[in-house]
This record gives sequence, structure tokens and C-alpha cells, in this order.
Amino acid sequence: MNGKRRDIGEIPELGEIPEEMYASVIRPERFGEPREAFRTEVVPTPVAGRGEVLVMVMAAGINYNNVWAALGAPLDVIAARRRQGATEDYHIGGSEGSGVVWAVGEGASGVAVGDHVVLTGCQWDEHAQDIRLGADPMTSQSQKVWGYELNGGSFAQFTVVKDYQCLPKPPHLTWEEAACYLLTGATAYRQLCGWHPHVVNPGDPVLIWGGAGGLGSMAIQITRQRGGIPIAVVSSDDRADYCLKLGAEGVINRNDFDHWGRLPDIDDHEASAAWTKQARGFGKRIWEILGTRASPKIVLEHSGEATIPTSLLVCDTAGMVVICGGTSGYNGDVDLRHLWMRQKRLQGSHFANLQQCRDITTLVAAGSIDPCLSRVDSFEDIGESHQVLYENNQPPGNLAVLVNSPERGLVSLPG
Ligand SMILES: NC(=O)c1ccc[n+]([C@@H]2O[C@H](COP(=O)([O-])OP(=O)(O)OC[C@H]3O[C@@H](n4cnc5c(N)ncnc54)[C@H](OP(=O)(O)O)[C@@H]3O)[C@@H](O)[C@H]2O)c1
Repeated sequence: MNGKRRDIGEIPELGEIPEEMYASVIRPERFGEPREAFRTEVVPTPVAGRGEVLVMVMAAGINYNNVWAALGAPLDVIAARRRQGATEDYHIGGSEGSGVVWAVGEGASGVAVGDHVVLTGCQWDEHAQDIRLGADPMTSQSQKVWGYELNGGSFAQFTVVKDYQCLPKPPHLTWEEAACYLLTGATAYRQLCGWHPHVVNPGDPVLIWGGAGGLGSMAIQITRQRGGIPIAVVSSDDRADYCLKLGAEGVINRNDFDHWGRLPDIDDHEASAAWTKQARGFGKRIWEILGTRASPKIVLEHSGEATIPTSLLVCDTAGMVVICGGTSGYNGDVDLRHLWMRQKRLQGSHFANLQQCRDITTLVAAGSIDPCLSRVDSFEDIGESHQVLYENNQPPGNLAVLVNSPERGLVSLPG
């Protein structure tokens, strides 16, 4: 430590490390709606340990996981960490960001002070037995989401990450653009390209829930990039227009149907018939968009309880429903008859490994995928940014906040 605390947006000399910093903090006594849960506080600046890197954060991406952190449910992340021995009684969220490498800990490699980087959102123990035996690190027992399960995320002037979390920032992006695409982009990339043999091939129809959302906007572009045919689901006309401009073949407004949620009891024939009629009507809309009676080879799921029964019905024979979240609830009903008779795959998927993070970053750096940044807030508004997500009032695409970047755009830096 060799410097005094700086205001947000006041960039120190390269390598100068203040003893204290500002962070957007959640505490258990403030659990509740995001607007109230986040508060700017002064906390000690973290120190990079072995294999770690201190990064001065320029901008951070906003994601749904820190809505849960704010609510304290379904997981109280602070209590969960304390049960495992952590002493801190607060949470600093933020699972993606962009910034400058400010200090490099002993043994850290592949990065140097002054590098402009984007930060991936997961950590694991590289010495874990399962990884040593060849497991994808995302399936390791040791894997945890940084800035959610792990404390000390990107909603602070400085953050400590593992060296492998740093990827070169695509140079043409602003700090806020660079901060917003990696979490949703890499997650969608793993869903669509990571579960062989169910990967998007040319001509494959792909159904994408929440097409105008963070995941959805990335998924539409990745599907097109691979020659697939993206079909988006949305809840408003302006979101529909957004998806069509991004490359969707067609769009379905989910408000045209009302069969969402848990399946009716199987013995309730009337309710079951009404459900099936609605769900088949939804499937017919897919055929109309495709101009043929084809079904999605892959259904990109994250909306969960409200939509999973429909996803499993409309998915093609031997196709895959791949799910990474449950925005509308976690009790997803499965009519097992569709699953076994049509030999469909229901696949869980969680964020992405380093190769997948690199792949999406390469596509973004090449200009093939747009980060879809739609809203940028100030550091003080981190709670408000999460509130709009919580209320599903967000504009299409991805959201970011400025952290130490004093303004939007390609801000130049010392060093
Ligand atoms: N496991 C992981 O690694 C991972 C990574 C990223 C995200 N996720 C999860 O995936 C989910 C989506 O993330 P995101 O960043 O894309 O969020 P987002 O930007 O808020 O988009 C989600 C979209 O879901 C749609 N939606 C909301 N409620 C719905 C419902 N009841 N039925 C159908 N669609 C509904 C909304 O679109 P319309 O209202 O227009 O339909 C919304 O735009 C979240 O639960 C998030 O936690 C998981």
C-alpha cells in the first residue's frame, strides 16, 4: 500500500495502491430490494496473493446473480461464506468487469502491470483433484462464482482475481462495453457450443427465451454466427424489434399465450387438454417462422419454471433443452413421456470455461459479436441498475456501471 484513498473516478498513478477504497456493499441488515441493499462504503483495498492479480476496475457488468445477493435469497452468500470460515460480514458483488492490471502477486503469470483486461466470472482450485484428473474446471467441486459466491467482485475501485481470470480487453471497445458482454456471452456460448453433439450447426433452428435479454442478445448473435436460425421469445413489441435487428429469424410474444408455469395435474384431463392446446399453438408459431414443420434442435433456457414444460414439448426429437437459470422459479415440471419417447436431452449449463471465455472474446474483438450495451449507470446507482433487472424493466441487451472510469468512452490512462 503506498497511497491515500481516491474518489471514485480519480485514477491514481499506475502502481499506486491506496490503503482504502470505495466499494458498493451489501450487508445482511439491508437484504431486500436491490435499490436499498447496495450502499457505497469504504473498505480495505485487497492484496494480491500467490497466483493473483490486483486490478483497478474501470467498469463492471450488471447481472441477475447480484439481485439474489441483494435479496439474500435463494442463497445468503454472506452466511454461506461465514459457514466456511470467512470473517467478512459484507458482500462486494460484480462477476465481470474491465480494468487495468495494477499489481501482480507472486507466481502470477500471463499478465503484466498496465495490461488492459476483461475479467471472467469463475474461480477454481487449479490443484483440485478433479481438475488434475482432467475435469472441465466448471464442473470442479472447487468452482465458485467470483463476485457472488466469492466476495470481492468488480463493484469496487480495486479487485483481486486469479491470473487466469484476466483476458486481453478487445481494444476497440469502451471500458463499459468491455465490462458487459463476457458473463452472458460466454454462458450463452457454452450453452450453444459446449454440449456435443448438441451444438449449433448450419441450418439448425434454435429457440431463445428472453431474446432481448443479456443471454438472449448474445445467443441470437452466436446462433447466426454458426449458421443456425435463431427464434426469439419476448414480452413486448420493442423487444421483438430489437431481436429482429440483431438477427432473429422471427419473434414470438409470450403474452399471446397463458399456459405458463407448472403443468396441470395429469388426471385433470380438461386442464391438460387446454395446456396442450396452448403449447402446441406456441409450437405452431415456430413452424410459421421457419416456413416448415421443423422444431428447435436446441432450446436455450433460463426462464425456468414458467417455460420449461413448453421448452421440452417443442424441442425436436433427439434435441436438447439447455438451461442455466430459473428466473421465474425453480420447480420446473417435466412431462417425462416427451423426454424418453422423443429421446430429448435436458442439460444443465453454468457459465463457461476459459476456452469458451476466450472464444467469445475473440468473436467480440473481431467485431463479429456486438456486446449489446444498452444502459450505463454511475457507481452510486449500482442498486438502481439491479432494481431494473429485478423488475424486468431493463432495456434490451446488457447493462454496465462506470467504476473508476470518469466518463463513458475510451478514457486514456497513466502509464
Ligand atoms: N448459470 C449461469 O452461469 C448464468 C449466467 C447468466 C445468466 N444466468 C441466469 O439466466 C437468467 C437470465 O439472465 P440475463 O442476464 O439474460 O437476464 P435479463 O437480461 O434480465 O434477461 C432475461 C429475460 O428473461 C425474460 N423473462 C423474464 N421472466 C420471464 C418469464 N416468466 N418467462 C419467460 N421469459 C421471461 C425477459 O424477457 P421478456 O420479458 O422479453 O420475455 C428478460 O429479458 C437469470 O436468471 C440469470 O441469473 C445464469
